Amino acid sequence: MHLIRSSLLFWAVLLAAAPAVGADADHGKALFQACVACHTEKPDAMGPSLKGVFGRKTAALEDFRYSNAMKRANLVWDEASLRSYLVDPQVLVKGNRMPFSGLRDPKDVDDVLAYLETFK
Ligand code: HEC
Repeated sequence: MHLIRSSLLFWAVLLAAAPAVGADADHGKALFQACVACHTEKPDAMGPSLKGVFGRKTAALEDFRYSNAMKRANLVWDEASLRSYLVDPQVLVKGNRMPFSGLRDPKDVDDVLAYLETFK
């Protein structure tokens, strides 16, 4: 009996750990709820829409008033630039006005990136 129980525990741990291998877009979607506080499709949203942000240039949306720092950044939002921006927004685009301190856990960054790639 003891053996069965411990082998069940083994599988439970293994299954729980499974999504941690590779980026997890579902977890990224959950984390993205923190971004949705500002990033929505609404015209009065505090931040620009992030739909299709992957591959888009910085400050590309006509109907959003970006800061001068963001307008001058002249970058493409790809995996490398988004990763840097999400870890610490003030390092990549100094003086931009996104009031977000950054994602501390590199795994969370991977997951948010995996989600953003599907967010079109
Ligand atoms: C408290 C509000 C707020 C939160 C929370 C927030 N952002 Fe932002 N974000 C902004 C604002 C405002 C800007 C525009 C900055 C500027 O123009 O300087 C911005 C800009 C951006 C841009 C550049 C978009 C473009 O069109 O160039 C990206 C990418 C981005 N945010 C991603 C995220 C992600 C991902 C999250 C969640 C992990 C997040 N933001 C959380 C307010 C926020």
